[in-house]
Amino acid sequence: MDNNYNPFIEALKNQKEIFGDELFEQITISVDTFNPENSQPLEIKEPKEVYIAGNSLFEDFDKCNTLDSFYDLIHNCQKCSLGTTRTNFVFGVGNPNADVMIVGEAPGAEEDKQGVTFVGRAGKLLTDILKAIKFERDDVYIANILKCRPPQNRDPLPLEVKECMPYLYKQMDLIKPKAILCLGRVAATNLLNQKISLTKMRGNIYEVHGIKTMVTYHPAALLRNPNWKRGCWEDVQKFRKLYDSLKN
Ligand code: URA
Repeated sequence: MDNNYNPFIEALKNQKEIFGDELFEQITISVDTFNPENSQPLEIKEPKEVYIAGNSLFEDFDKCNTLDSFYDLIHNCQKCSLGTTRTNFVFGVGNPNADVMIVGEAPGAEEDKQGVTFVGRAGKLLTDILKAIKFERDDVYIANILKCRPPQNRDPLPLEVKECMPYLYKQMDLIKPKAILCLGRVAATNLLNQKISLTKMRGNIYEVHGIKTMVTYHPAALLRNPNWKRGCWEDVQKFRKLYDSLKN
């Protein structure tokens, strides 16, 4: 047994994967509770420094007709502070004409190191999940909501998502997938703009940027909790059915 395994922590992580912060109440903490007059509310703020890569960046999107030219345009992005902490900008990988796009949350440590999406243990499981519904990894295109790794794999901040999402939309415009499979609660809440639990999103068909989209568990969550594999299997079978219905 893993010495670091703590069932309490695992249960909390699982709770967070499905429900996010729904059960946690937002509270204000005073610095000096003994002297309320001096106390300042503590707030968790988004990073103060925002680096703008050049005002013309969005106009330049229109000049990019291929994923390669788009990569060249954005891979030095410094629009948020993750530009200073990343090792590599993790653009996305796969078939530039894919009919299926997979959208995850953000690069992890291994992805940051290699500059490629889903190459760690979760990536291997993703490859197996795709195989189970008769897709090869090279058939699909795999990207993330964020192109840079958040330190310590923390959840993406709203400002980071806001700055990075136009990149994903442009990738969708270039690839023109017929269907998107979104992995995990964090990616789904951001991509679908839904503030509901993963449980409530699973099984539904959404439309994102004009593209039919479904949601399932994040492979990293399945590694933590193999009991969810059955639910994932049901989700991806539904996704395959959706894809088959859109093929022609
Ligand atoms: N998790 C993600 O969401 N994306 C990756 O690329 C790797 C792990």
